[in-house]
Amino acid sequence: MSLFAIKPLESILAQAGDAEHSLKRTLGPFSLVALGIGAVIGAGIFTLTGQAAGDHAGPAIVLSFIIAAIGCGFAGLCYSEFATMIPIAGSAYTYAYATMGELMAWIIGWDLVMEYAIGAATVSVGWSGHVLDLMSRFGVAIPPRLAASPFEMVRLADGTSVHGIANIPALLIIIVISFILVGGIKESATVNSIIVVLKVSVVIFFILIGWAYMNPANHTPFIPANTGSWGHFGWSGVLRGSGVIFFAYIGFDAVSTAAQEASKPKRDMPIGIIGSLVVCTILFVLYAYVLTGVVNYKDFMDPRYHAAPITAALARMPYPILSIAMDMAIIAGLTSVMLVMLLGQSRVFYSMSRDGLLPRVFSDIHPKFRTPWRSNLLMMCFVGVFSALVPISILGEMTSIGTLFAFVIVCIGIMVMRRTRPDVPRAFKTPLVPLVPILGILFNFLMIFALGVANWLRLFIWLAIGLAIYFGYSRYHSKLGAVLSEKPAPSLGD
Ligand code: ALA
Repeated sequence: MSLFAIKPLESILAQAGDAEHSLKRTLGPFSLVALGIGAVIGAGIFTLTGQAAGDHAGPAIVLSFIIAAIGCGFAGLCYSEFATMIPIAGSAYTYAYATMGELMAWIIGWDLVMEYAIGAATVSVGWSGHVLDLMSRFGVAIPPRLAASPFEMVRLADGTSVHGIANIPALLIIIVISFILVGGIKESATVNSIIVVLKVSVVIFFILIGWAYMNPANHTPFIPANTGSWGHFGWSGVLRGSGVIFFAYIGFDAVSTAAQEASKPKRDMPIGIIGSLVVCTILFVLYAYVLTGVVNYKDFMDPRYHAAPITAALARMPYPILSIAMDMAIIAGLTSVMLVMLLGQSRVFYSMSRDGLLPRVFSDIHPKFRTPWRSNLLMMCFVGVFSALVPISILGEMTSIGTLFAFVIVCIGIMVMRRTRPDVPRAFKTPLVPLVPILGILFNFLMIFALGVANWLRLFIWLAIGLAIYFGYSRYHSKLGAVLSEKPAPSLGD
């Protein structure tokens, strides 16, 4: 069969109505915006902002946030059209299957694993760091080697440096979140909404309090001069910074993976996607402006603050209790990010499995909870290994480049679909096609470029592993492939 076989839209939509397999439709507009914000505000804003300002952009990290938001905005407009045209679980994977064929769908699905699963692992490592910080404030300590990757060095009390063993707190939180997801989306969404309100309040609170402690000298020069190497301050630093903090925006697209669980998907998908992106952009830009106004960007190079920039800012304010409250809110915030990422992950695998591209175990729905519980538990093992063993810097950059690549494919898909299926109703239409998708491709490629050769290689290796699985398994088990070659095989509706 052709690698470019396109799954008919009619069969995709018919599958969505299949009562036996369908998921419960419980999410309204507020829950969807909350789902997006829940996925977005997390390790990026609370952890990576310091590194991006200290290593790459200085106060101009504010501009980096705006550049990344523009790339996300163009891609978000494309996601919205797809999500209202094909309102079922699976996100960009399903969109690619309907527009660019099975091989491209596989590539994007595999790429989404990188975004959601490795993203959840990234956040779990950040979560672990904040939990340890909070525990230390109360005089409780666990051996540092049990909270670090074997590829990282940790400093012991006697001053010696040794390799870590495994990040056990990161592993534990992945296990807990996975079991919450097995319990069901309604409960998960309720918990998520509470945490979202909490962390948005904390960011707003920080902006309001911090405004009074800003020192105008810290914002001068706003774009520090380039140090001589590409990506270290100057405009190239602003660009590199946007590639790094792009991680902070990842997640708003996870709203589209819940389309099959939205009560009115055609109306609420664009509200969920664009709404969460707009809210987060405003918060991030103000947060970055206040943060670099309170703390001089050079101070973020201090190892104590490199991964915890907000701690540096709070140390300059006379409210010690605030640090503890912030730590607690950040821990809750990171928890909700992992929840949404793992939720999105299992939904993508659910779709791929129903198409025969992955074993059936990934689409088995629990008879009582109505969740893809086996998929949740298998992914728990996969993500747990990354959480326990891989350093956060590598995890974060892999997540960013994988997501940027997915955004580019979604933008291409919109242009393809306008030509091949102009007849399909779209409740939301991306404005100014092809200008908006083309700008989306350009901005997102710019950030891929800014992330550098090491990350291009990681993306390449990940995709090569995915292609080996496709040509070794998926191609021979594809339900679409069986139908096209008229072999006896389960129908597409199975
Ligand atoms: N945007 C999410 C975060 O910052 C992935 O943690």
